[in-house]
Amino acid sequence: SSLRIGLIPADGIGREVIPAARRTLEALGSDLPKLEFHDLLAGFDLFTKTGAALPNETIDIEGGCDAALFGAVSSPSRKVAGYSSPIVALRKELDLYANIRPVVSVEKPSVDLVVVRENTECLYVKQETLTHTDSGREARATRLITERASRRIGTMAFELALARPRKQVTIIHKSNVLSVTDGLFRETVRAVPRLPGVSGRFDSVAIAEQIVDSAVYRLFREPEIYDVMVAPNLYGDILSDAAAALVGSLGLVPSVNAGDSFVMGEPVHGSAPDIEGQGIANPLAAIRSAALMLRHLKYEDAADRIDTAVNHVIREGRVLTPDLGGKSKTDEVVEAVLRRL
Ligand code: NAI
Ligand code: MG
Repeated sequence: SSLRIGLIPADGIGREVIPAARRTLEALGSDLPKLEFHDLLAGFDLFTKTGAALPNETIDIEGGCDAALFGAVSSPSRKVAGYSSPIVALRKELDLYANIRPVVSVEKPSVDLVVVRENTECLYVKQETLTHTDSGREARATRLITERASRRIGTMAFELALARPRKQVTIIHKSNVLSVTDGLFRETVRAVPRLPGVSGRFDSVAIAEQIVDSAVYRLFREPEIYDVMVAPNLYGDILSDAAAALVGSLGLVPSVNAGDSFVMGEPVHGSAPDIEGQGIANPLAAIRSAALMLRHLKYEDAADRIDTAVNHVIREGRVLTPDLGGKSKTDEVVEAVLRRL
């Protein structure tokens, strides 16, 4: 039977890097079952044309696809009536509760960490209200942290740490100020190794914790102290972009949105309107996201082949896009990866 992959390039450079990931998957040949790609729509451009940012056909992706790759959306920074980010909605609809973001440097100084970001709640429940008071407008947002979501993301973090050489989980929080919400997150993740049914499984995993602001500081000073960093949604979003700076570019950092029954690869970067349409977007984050997706589907050898080829191209340093100091185009980088494959 074939492997059915939904492709959702969405906006901006998503349309440039998702085709690059597709070409890479196609080049794997007999390492994978026969591939079947399904093109699906989403995005702000789509919203401006049709009034819907996330069509039902895309929400129903699990019906026709085994996994998916998402590009990026150009969500505006102002409120647009009727619009809401399709990627935030899709993560929630498909219950892709873990956003797993490995940040690894190919060159020294070595960074080898994974940000495990809770993907369904925190401030991203987007319950915001605006009221008019005597002294001006007042905006409020709800921040939701549940024991259930904290427990499942915590369990995911411990499972990932168990499979890594250093076996360390660092809980990122701000419980010194937000003692109720972040307090619940911290306490719930800390308790994961003592859950009924876990029975010693995580005994070899060390637990550390760090307040989010100093975690960013230490990430820049001594990134080697981190292995698996588990964080509520917003902190995880910010930390992973920060970590991307350590390895040279956002254009290198992949992720997967993972649930219990579906996985969707997605580069960590956004739609990069500043370089859109110039053919110079770095495709490596999207290509690595395809590899990560394959890893979650248990096609380890195929994923290894992609990662080896990507690392070779980076290390060689001859064919790189401008974000990494090179002069090459997106297509030239893809060709270099394919040659290596
Ligand atoms: P961004 O990640 O799109 O870009 C930040 C900077 O990194 C820019 O200078 C960009 O040129 C560069 N960059 C990012 N990816 C690159 C790549 N593959 N190759 C070379 N350079 C790359 O973040 P920004 O500019 O803050 O947001 C732009 C739009 O993207 C916004 O509308 C935002 O809402 C959206 N966005 C969407 C995300 C998603 O779909 N998951 C995530 C983050 C932002
Ligand atoms: Mg982000």
